[in-house]
Amino acid sequence: MASQTLTDARNYLWLYNTQKEDVETGKVPVIVRGEGNYVIDDQDNRYLDLIAGNTRANATGYGREQVARAMYDQARKMHYFSSANFISLPAVALAKKLAGILPDELTTTCFVCDGSEAVETAFKMAKQYHLNESGQNRFKIISRYHAYHGQTMGALSALGFLNPMRNAMAPLVPGHAFLIPPYCYRCPLNLTYPACDLACADALDTLIQFEGPDLVAAFIAEAIMQGMGALPPPDGYFERIREICDTYEVLLIIDEVITGFGRTGKMFACDLYNIRPDIITLAKQLTGGYAPLGAASTIRKIADAIDTFYHIHTYGNHPVCCAAALKNIEIIERENLVAHAAQMGSYLLAGLKELQKHPIVGEARGVGLWCAIEIVKDKDRRIPFKPEENIAQQLTLAGKDHGVIFRGMGNALEFAPPLSISRKEIEAGLRAIDLALDDVEKKLDF
Ligand SMILES: Cc1ncc(COP(=O)(O)O)c(C=O)c1O
Repeated sequence: MASQTLTDARNYLWLYNTQKEDVETGKVPVIVRGEGNYVIDDQDNRYLDLIAGNTRANATGYGREQVARAMYDQARKMHYFSSANFISLPAVALAKKLAGILPDELTTTCFVCDGSEAVETAFKMAKQYHLNESGQNRFKIISRYHAYHGQTMGALSALGFLNPMRNAMAPLVPGHAFLIPPYCYRCPLNLTYPACDLACADALDTLIQFEGPDLVAAFIAEAIMQGMGALPPPDGYFERIREICDTYEVLLIIDEVITGFGRTGKMFACDLYNIRPDIITLAKQLTGGYAPLGAASTIRKIADAIDTFYHIHTYGNHPVCCAAALKNIEIIERENLVAHAAQMGSYLLAGLKELQKHPIVGEARGVGLWCAIEIVKDKDRRIPFKPEENIAQQLTLAGKDHGVIFRGMGNALEFAPPLSISRKEIEAGLRAIDLALDDVEKKLDF
């Protein structure tokens, strides 16, 4: 019988993007506690968190007293005052801290409440920059098929999937165009790297020309795409993209909402791939999930061109959230969690590659502590399962039976544990994934 919490959740709470039937049938755990890299549900089941709060936000693990204390102290001293016309000390300190650790040229930050708002802010910065600098009303934004940039209307308009999230909210913001993604396992151009000579990046040139160079404000790209499950770019991809953006003075926005603050084994994926963005978007591991905060940081040239930025959020620059971020980053640095993520990530990827022995695992890929395995029905022909076969749900439920939480994404399963995960925990997680794959394969007669 459903617990009172499930009944109440079913009746009174909108769970994001979750079927009510799954709540009723108990497929949605009620998470009540977190300890280290584990979470515990209301039935006292313990799960190893292989996906950092399911959104890949958690950097330092659960129950960090120091972060809680920093938030408490800030709330007691000054919990909130407007972010316009008044200055909050933690916001200034955090902006200065970011200027010190972000890739070189990024100096100036605007804080908002989450990743979607960070993306909206980046779009607005790009538009106002062009207007102030050259009087051009550049309003178009180019993103990529399979891209995910969030749920507010501008960010949603840059979503590169045809799915209910997009279709149900139409019409979306005009002026969005899409580039083919660097999805090498299923190349949209049927080419093979490196013989392809990065044709998918070169296509940006043609697209900008088609859309009108004087109308395109920015190109936005995740450093590593989440849409089909942790897709790293091929070597040289972002260098080519940067050249094309420079040719047309189109701003390059790199979305590091997932990759920022160590997930790839570098503090930022821009450091890993030597990307020089004009604007970077951040959220998730900025506070590790302890408080809602997003940010868009930009280079001096853009910051100088915008005297008054026409943008405001009641909870932008929130002192308690900025205090949480400062403490979270301090822990990431003090415990060397970025280097740790690089080392743990190589164990995780090596273990996932061994799982390619399974008939339904097509490819294991990833960087640092963000990895995925591509699930296929026919390995030789790389044919995925049909959406109605619910393969990801079957596998994630089997994972829970074996005490681990991970998630499905496109045709893939994704793994992105807190950066604080240990080698022993990774080994336990890999064993559980192996067993979950066995269970589902047995059920499906593989
Ligand atoms: C790359 C990327 N950008 C933006 C967002 C939106 O962030 P939020 O859900 O905090 O609004 C997400 C969320 O998953 C994301 O993965």
